[in-house]
Amino acid sequence: MLRELFLVILTFVSPAWLVAQAPTSVALTPPMGWNSWNCFREDVSAEKVMAIADAMVASGMRDVGYQYIIIDDGWMTDQRDQAGHIVVDSTKFPNGIKALADYIHGLGLKFGIYSAPGRYTCQKLMGSYGYEQIDANDYAAWGVDYLKYDWCNYPGTREQAMNTPAEDCQQAYELMRDCLRNTGRPIVYSVHSTCSGERKNSFPWITDVVHMHRSGDDIKDNWDRMLYCLESTADLWHYAQPGFWNDPDMLEVGNTTQERLWGGIDSTKMTTLEYRTHFSIWCMVAAPLIAGNNLATMTEEITQILTNHALVAVNQDSLGKQGRRVRNEGALEVWVKELAGNRRAVALLNRSDQPANIAFSWEEADVTGEHTVRNLWTQEDVGDFQEAYQGQGIAAHDALVLLLTPK
Ligand code: GAL
Repeated sequence: MLRELFLVILTFVSPAWLVAQAPTSVALTPPMGWNSWNCFREDVSAEKVMAIADAMVASGMRDVGYQYIIIDDGWMTDQRDQAGHIVVDSTKFPNGIKALADYIHGLGLKFGIYSAPGRYTCQKLMGSYGYEQIDANDYAAWGVDYLKYDWCNYPGTREQAMNTPAEDCQQAYELMRDCLRNTGRPIVYSVHSTCSGERKNSFPWITDVVHMHRSGDDIKDNWDRMLYCLESTADLWHYAQPGFWNDPDMLEVGNTTQERLWGGIDSTKMTTLEYRTHFSIWCMVAAPLIAGNNLATMTEEITQILTNHALVAVNQDSLGKQGRRVRNEGALEVWVKELAGNRRAVALLNRSDQPANIAFSWEEADVTGEHTVRNLWTQEDVGDFQEAYQGQGIAAHDALVLLLTPK
């Protein structure tokens, strides 16, 4: 009798339903990897991406946890074939996408791709509108592990995309989520949530739909622009959790590409110290660590920043808490991130143009009693302290990042 009942249940509960309900098994910590957009723009190719993948291994980045090699806009044409499959740009990817994914998997890395819910991507190439399941199936067949799903030209033009009501945006993102789930392949799902121009914190549904969402407009290799991206994510801390991350955008650390002036934004590049601060604060806010520089040509200084184990461990901490700004005194700020084991990471951020001292109390860090304080850039313990600590002589645009461990 029980057996019959079991068979009846199995008949009505289809495998597709089971897949759709499967718990997330990816992005339990912020995804780490590299994306082609910041340094190559649409001028991406299999050859360039393979060289990047090789460099991710040779530089030691793979060993500290970087995994995903993601090709952004520009891999496809503006056409579909008669069966509805997207036509890959064969001048850039002569052996197709699967061959590239296989190469990347062969290095022990994972592979990511880009699309958009509209008819066209931001570069006016083919988007997924109306062909979501076909595209998701192709991704799964190629071995895609990560999808960046942008917001442009939805359903057909830029203007329509900007005026899309939040409910339609939600539907578009849910549709691709379901198509990806139907494939049965675990795929990190990353979106850009600028639809309808509303603030992202008015989208409480987002944590159930995607693994990460962009909180602001595009980053640039520029100190002020980097801080703008940080601000876009700062007050969304309550969303962050294993399986969902706020994304202030990809890293600009070590990006030597000369940028086109864009949207009137100053194209002054960051200094090496500013890159280090940018990396520190992305680690503090549990941002996905997606490098955007040319890994094949980066200097040793840049490699050292991207592969700082101690900072990466702060970012990847298993509690999955996003660091919060607990003090904001003009240009001097204190950020605290709760870590497993009752530890805290504290960043003393000097946004001013002068060196500064920044102190913080245990109350601000939400701890009590004696703690060992360690400087995560010099990798030295600075001493044991009872109730407060003062960071001294913090250079302009620098961040002192400390680890507090209870004695
Ligand atoms: C933008 C997006 C960038 C990049 C670009 C590609 O909307 O924010 O990160 O993906 O599109 O066209």
